[in-house]
Amino acid sequence: MLVFGGTGDLALHKLLPALYHLHRDRRLPADMRILALARKPLDADAYRTLAERHCRANVPRANLDASTWQAFAERIDYFAMDASQSADYGRLARHLGNACQRGRVYYLATAPGLFEDIAAHLANAGLAGSNTRIVLEKPIGHSLESALAINQAIGRVFQESQIFRIDHYLGKETVQNLMALRFANALFEPVWRSGHIDHVQISVCETLGVENRGGYYDKAGAMRDMLQNHLLQLLCLVAMEAPVRFDAEAVRNEKVKILEALKPIAGFDVKDRTVRGQYAAGKIGGQEVPAYYFEKNVDSDSDTETFVAVHAEIDNWRWAGVPFYLRTGKRMAKKSSEIVIQFKPVPHRLFQDGQANGLLISLQPEESISLQLMAKSPGKGMHLAPVELDLNLAHAFRQKRRWDAYERLLLDVIEGDSTLFMRRDEVEAAWRWVDPIIGGWHAYYQRPRPYPAGSWGPEQAHSLLEQQGHAWHR
Ligand code: BG6
Repeated sequence: MLVFGGTGDLALHKLLPALYHLHRDRRLPADMRILALARKPLDADAYRTLAERHCRANVPRANLDASTWQAFAERIDYFAMDASQSADYGRLARHLGNACQRGRVYYLATAPGLFEDIAAHLANAGLAGSNTRIVLEKPIGHSLESALAINQAIGRVFQESQIFRIDHYLGKETVQNLMALRFANALFEPVWRSGHIDHVQISVCETLGVENRGGYYDKAGAMRDMLQNHLLQLLCLVAMEAPVRFDAEAVRNEKVKILEALKPIAGFDVKDRTVRGQYAAGKIGGQEVPAYYFEKNVDSDSDTETFVAVHAEIDNWRWAGVPFYLRTGKRMAKKSSEIVIQFKPVPHRLFQDGQANGLLISLQPEESISLQLMAKSPGKGMHLAPVELDLNLAHAFRQKRRWDAYERLLLDVIEGDSTLFMRRDEVEAAWRWVDPIIGGWHAYYQRPRPYPAGSWGPEQAHSLLEQQGHAWHR
């Protein structure tokens, strides 16, 4: 596995710890090597020291013992090169030597601006044969046009079956459980539709700010960084029809149909159906944190959104008229990623109190699924109260260790299974829906509304639901 961007945050914080865990669990092929590539003039030992420091910070102490680390470190090598320079690929080919004949994965943990160059240079250096795979990190481009250009350039060098567009949300255990819940239980299917479901909420709230990623984030914003990919992927899994088989083509065929059925939001609708926000100074966990525009590498007059909420709709038979509320933001009151399926109330009310049923699928911080039902409170009279049928996945399966999404997905790449990766047409369909929203913000000067760090986003995000008689789940 060759990791471009080997000294970057993603490689050091996510990929190497995930590979370490896979190594520790003996999931990696015994002879697999990891070659980190970056511009820094390091030798292999210096890189291993850097990798160890980051793994120690990201792997629970009990899982990192000296001898396992030593054996893992022997898999790691480093090669200093400039990924934008074609001449460096000749040097890389010579460095690989006979290893060129082996199966290879290129992991592009770099800015998307480099994807096209890297693919072309790999091809020119004879390094892109049929025994190779390429992994692209999201976001793929920053608009439909740039995504088309990237997909075309990569497609000239690699077959679609060799391309793995990663969205780490698809590697999360509960996200896959959503498919199990829907398609392995007969219970939900008859009510999983507009006649029974009132609305759906998909909410990914973080307490973190932009950390060291201001340079990238200020050009992306919450829409491109999170909603275009992670939230739309979750929406697809909630809304798609049952695939005929659980394989890459069948699953992705169904997901793309949902993306294509998303009702366009353009022109004046953008103002009515979307809310942008940007965090102002505030408190997170009792600590003062600065406003977004004071963050490192962020423009002091930035109009990038760190929060976005959208009232989406899916124009198809199953979902016509059901609001899908999507919301994501940084520096929010609590880290929580969840999907709420809010059912309609009973058609005829017998009891005074009562609430409609809700299914809560929590991805973070806990992975759990719970169904809210109404029950009678003990004692005299018919007083009802909500109770929860809880499926705590960690308890149910007495897991020793929770797999990180990257572990699962890296293993899938190594094994060549692209079911949980985005196909070219999915990425393009997502941009086709997102682009007019971003265009509308600029056309109507819809600047992000400030919200205090540590809050639940701008007031307008609450009005977005209140207009429809709904409220965000807390
Ligand atoms: C990444 C985004 O894809 O997902 C980050 O680029 C974000 O901005 C992260 O913080 C959230 O992932 P998770 O798994 O912590 O919810």
